[in-house]
Amino acid sequence: MGLFWVVKLLFLSLLSLNILSCFSSQGENFSKFGYPYIRRASTFSSSSSSSASSSGRQNTFDYIIVGGGTSGCPLAATLSQNFSVLLLERGGVPFSNFNVSYLKNFHISLADTSPESASQPFVSTDGVINSRARVLGGGTCINAGFYTRASTRYVASAGWDPKLVNESFPWIERQIVHWPKLAPWQKAVKDSLLEVGVSPFNGFTYDHIFGTKVGGTIFDKFGRRHTAAELLASGNPAKLNVLVHATVQKILFDTTGKKPKAVGVIFKDENGSQHQAFLSKRLSSEIIVSSGAIGSPQLLLLSGIGSKAELKRMNLSVVLANKFVGKGMSDNPMNTVFIPTKNAVEQSLIQTVGITKLGLYIEASSGFGQSSNSIHCHHGIMSAEIGQLSTIPPKQRTPKAIEEFIQNKQYLPHEAFKGGFILEKIASPLSKGHLNLTSTNIEDTPSVTFNYFSHPSDLRRCVDGIRMMEKIVRSKHFSNYAQCDDVSMEKLLNMSVKANVNLIPKHTNVTASLEQFCRDTVITIWHYHGGCNVGRVVDSDYKVLGVNGLRVIDGSTFNNSPGTNPQATVMMMGRYMGVKMLRDRLGRTAGV
Ligand SMILES: Cc1cc2nc3c(=O)[nH]c(=O)nc-3n(C[C@H](O)[C@H](O)[C@H](O)COP(=O)(O)OP(=O)(O)OC[C@H]3O[C@@H](n4cnc5c(N)ncnc54)[C@H](O)[C@@H]3O)c2cc1C
Ligand SMILES: *[C@@H]1O[C@H](CO)[C@@H](O)[C@H](O)[C@H]1NC(C)=O
Ligand SMILES: *[C@@H]1O[C@H](CO)[C@@H](O)[C@H](O)[C@H]1NC(C)=O
Ligand SMILES: *[C@@H]1O[C@H](CO)[C@@H](O)[C@H](O)[C@H]1NC(C)=O
Ligand SMILES: *[C@@H]1O[C@H](CO)[C@@H](O)[C@H](O)[C@H]1NC(C)=O
Ligand SMILES: *[C@@H]1O[C@H](CO)[C@@H](O)[C@H](O)[C@H]1NC(C)=O
Ligand SMILES: *[C@@H]1O[C@H](CO)[C@@H](O)[C@H](O)[C@H]1NC(C)=O
Ligand SMILES: *[C@@H]1O[C@H](CO)[C@@H](O)[C@H](O)[C@H]1NC(C)=O
Ligand SMILES: *[C@@H]1O[C@H](CO)[C@@H](O)[C@H](O)[C@H]1NC(C)=O
Ligand SMILES: *[C@@H]1O[C@H](CO)[C@@H](O)[C@H](O)[C@H]1NC(C)=O
Repeated sequence: MGLFWVVKLLFLSLLSLNILSCFSSQGENFSKFGYPYIRRASTFSSSSSSSASSSGRQNTFDYIIVGGGTSGCPLAATLSQNFSVLLLERGGVPFSNFNVSYLKNFHISLADTSPESASQPFVSTDGVINSRARVLGGGTCINAGFYTRASTRYVASAGWDPKLVNESFPWIERQIVHWPKLAPWQKAVKDSLLEVGVSPFNGFTYDHIFGTKVGGTIFDKFGRRHTAAELLASGNPAKLNVLVHATVQKILFDTTGKKPKAVGVIFKDENGSQHQAFLSKRLSSEIIVSSGAIGSPQLLLLSGIGSKAELKRMNLSVVLANKFVGKGMSDNPMNTVFIPTKNAVEQSLIQTVGITKLGLYIEASSGFGQSSNSIHCHHGIMSAEIGQLSTIPPKQRTPKAIEEFIQNKQYLPHEAFKGGFILEKIASPLSKGHLNLTSTNIEDTPSVTFNYFSHPSDLRRCVDGIRMMEKIVRSKHFSNYAQCDDVSMEKLLNMSVKANVNLIPKHTNVTASLEQFCRDTVITIWHYHGGCNVGRVVDSDYKVLGVNGLRVIDGSTFNNSPGTNPQATVMMMGRYMGVKMLRDRLGRTAGV
């Protein structure tokens, strides 16, 4: 490094702009979207991994955050107020992506299995089709938008400071959350929930209270989506650096001390070139993994933190043995009852919820989008496109395979896709699973097992939920609204089995056994969590046990999914931990 650069770096750091010097001036910086600090990973000018000790060292940061998702974005924005932050996200930006930006494209986005897609499909070993976010903003760019807070009981059990929690939620809400315009299907389900006794009606509220309510949404009244990526606008442009198409492959440790200390990361840019970024030498600089419930345990394993046997199986050297990494994974089972209607209904995702005392939540979705013919019929959340297309890996999508897909789709019962469905979600499932590495390539989703309904309590609650959905369908409000000629539950359940898109073999006796119906038709509401659980992989401050300079802050730390739907609390947690870390370092001078 020449003297000129030393002087320039000193000069720039006086202006708090030292970080900009790490990036080449070429290439898009997304200033056209109002985010000049977002750049493509290839603009990062570190040397290749072979010369880490020399010029690579100049790229140092107070915080390096891996994963620009639901928690990573608010966390980065907050920490950048007083410290230099590098946020690394493997996906692209959501801003100009039509599939991401509009409610009406929810299912199209999930069905897009190209490498550029904001969603990355996977199938758990249970045979349930699922999806991971791969875009700046994470899950908030592909989800159904429903926004509702964790209960005060959940906040207490997490050990969070309720005052700071109550300041952190509104920070999110002011920026990206809206009141919904209640769609007719949602209104019918809301009224029916009250009719069957899921009461009182708590009106529009973010709070988690027993009864029926209308929640918030990240879609505005024009059906445009607002995501966690927009929270970056609250960051400090002089200290915030965001790289997209930056796939972190490994965390680097200094193992010479008593405890291993995280010091940097290796990441790959959009052209396949490798880079390294390091923490500054300041005390308490940290790497924070916010890569989601699959990405975070996977990255710890690939960095040498995990069960000895699992690491040995993959020929990875052990930095720290911890058999709990990738364990305690859980996905809340979702089961649906399809209800055909006489007239086509308006598209809606989730706007209302019944918070029952049975340990389950009732929600609903409806609508066909623009077309309802046999090829294009889709169904908002559980579209046949999501299910069947995504099971054809991109490379095998030959014209023949696509033809077969279309053929198979014709066997789906059309009437199921006219109308909408009611869903039940099991709260706090007791069934737990795990993930295993299938390769040492970070781009390969690990093998994930959720063991749905392996615990009898989960199955019992599912059956209770189906019975409650039956009552809703039979309620005066609902039958008046749906105007179906025949609402025999047996028929509806039969149809729901046929319309189901999981890969689990179906039985014919499901109407005789609601347990069988639950097992055969279980799908996901994409609230999977765990893998880096508090008390086993991280402590109550989310610091990884047994190493220094490393935390995990995202849904992988949850023992239970918060609220009826988790995104509000995941975003809150990013803001909350950012403020807490600033206060721990700076005291009241943090100014937050
Ligand atoms: C289809 C769908 C519908 C949903 N509907 C709702 C809903 O209506 N309401 C609700 O509250 N919740 C909903 N959820 C759940 C909610 O969106 C998720 O629980 C939440 O977004 C998870 O946040 P996270 O921060 O843990 O992970 P994510 O938001 O997934 O963030 C992880 C980020 O890390 C990145 N990453 C991973 N590995 C690496 C790496 N090695 N290097 C760099 N970057 C990496 C990923 O690309 C991603 O952007 C839904 C989820 C899905 C998928
Ligand atoms: C981003 O690009 C714009 C236009 O190319 C340029 O004017 C601006 O200075 C750049 N910002 C940074 C922080 O490099
Ligand atoms: C949207 O998704 C569809 C497939 O579902 C895909 O063909 C299209 O290219 C995607 N569009 C964008 C802008 O990514
Ligand atoms: C936080 O807000 C909730 C309502 O959202 C309220 O019930 C609770 O009492 C508040 N807690 C504190 C400490 O202010
Ligand atoms: C890297 O990819 C970008 C496109 O994202 C391209 O503009 C650039 O020229 C590439 N750089 C190299 C060194 O290949
Ligand atoms: C681990 O190393 C052994 C011996 O070199 C090799 O046979 C095996 O394929 C390797 N496994 C993986 C997953 O790379
Ligand atoms: C996968 O992980 C589980 C739990 O961590 C472990 O019991 C199992 O042996 C692993 N499977 C393989 C194939 O290694
Ligand atoms: C439901 O399906 C079963 C098994 O296929 C069948 O015996 C039964 O008659 C069906 N019931 C209705 C109402 O269609
Ligand atoms: C349904 O069928 C499966 C296998 O075909 C059987 O194991 C199960 O006991 C049956 N359930 C009922 C209630 O008949
Ligand atoms: C931290 O940042 C805030 C807002 O940018 C500022 O008001 C405060 O003075 C800063 N504190 C320190 C110690 O730098």
